[in-house]
Amino acid sequence: MQFQPILDEITAILQQDLQQHGPGGQVASYIPALARVPAGQIGMALRTRDGQEAVAGAGAQPFSIQSISKVFTLTLAMQKLSEEALWSRIGREPSGTAFNSLVQLEFEHGTPRNPFINAGAIAVADRLIGLFGDTACAALTAFMSDLAGEPIGYDTEVAESEASTGYRNQALANFMKSFGRIDHAVAQVLDLYFHQCALSMSCLQLARAAGYLCSDGAHPLAAGQAVMTERQTRRINALMLTCGTYDAAGEFAYRIGLPCKSGVGGGILAVVPDRLSLVVWSPALDASGNSVLGQKALELFTRRTGLSIF
Ligand code: DON
Repeated sequence: MQFQPILDEITAILQQDLQQHGPGGQVASYIPALARVPAGQIGMALRTRDGQEAVAGAGAQPFSIQSISKVFTLTLAMQKLSEEALWSRIGREPSGTAFNSLVQLEFEHGTPRNPFINAGAIAVADRLIGLFGDTACAALTAFMSDLAGEPIGYDTEVAESEASTGYRNQALANFMKSFGRIDHAVAQVLDLYFHQCALSMSCLQLARAAGYLCSDGAHPLAAGQAVMTERQTRRINALMLTCGTYDAAGEFAYRIGLPCKSGVGGGILAVVPDRLSLVVWSPALDASGNSVLGQKALELFTRRTGLSIF
C-alpha cells in the first residue's frame, strides 16, 4: 500500500475542516507553556515494519509528547524489572476516570489502575528512579534517541511549567507515598515524570521510535536487536487499547480499532500490530484530553485503509 497519498489526502481534508469549522476543541490550558501552542495545526507520520515512511502537514514539527511518554517509560521498566517488581505496584485495568483523577486511588489503597493514567506513570517513574537514580532523566533521553536514531531532548520550559503548576500530580504522588506505594523522594520521582512529559518530538520521530510495537519488539533501526520480547510487545499494545486514552478507550476502540496512546500536547500514537506505527498531532483537545482532529485523522486512516485489529 502507498501511504504518502493517503496521509496527504487526510491532512488536506482536516486542514479544510479547520478553516471551515475551527479546531473543535481547546489546547491544554492548565500548563502555561502548552496554552501558547497555536491550535490550528495538523501533522501525521507513519513508519511501516519494513521501513517505509510517510509524513504530511506538520508531521516533522516537534511538539510536547506529554502522556505518550508513558509508553516508553513503561517499556524501559519492563525491559529491566521482573513482572513481580513492576506489577505488584500497578494494575492493568482501564480506569474509566480522567487521567489525573484521585478518587479511585483511595478506594484501591494507593495502587493505580494502570500505567497510563498519571498515578500509574508516577509509580513507573518511581521504579525507574530505583533503577537509574540521579541519571534517570539522562537514561530516558538516551533510550529515546537510540530508538529515534537522532538526539531527542526535553523542552525545559514545558518541564518547569509542569513543575510549577503540578499540584494534582504532587497530590497523587504524596497520596501513593502515604500508602507506602512510592519508594523514593516524591520530588525526585516527579522531576522525572515532569521531564518525560516535556520530551519534544515530531510525529516522524515518534513513529520511528515506536517501531518496535509493530514488529514484535524488534528495534526499529538496529537490525537484529530487540527492544523487548514479542510477548511484552503484545502486552503493551493490549494496555494501549484498553487504557491508552483514559475514559475514552472504549470510544477509541469502537471508532478507530487500534491500540492508541494520547497526550495533552495533542499527539496520538497508534499501532497496527505487524504493520506500522502511526502518529498524528493537532493541539486542540476534547474533554477527555484527546486531540479532536487527531481522532478524526485516525478514523479517516482506518476507514481509508481498512486496517484494524478487529
Ligand atoms: O500530568 C500532566 O498533567 C501532564 N503533563 C501529562 C498529562 C497527559 O498528557 C495526559 N493526557 N492526556
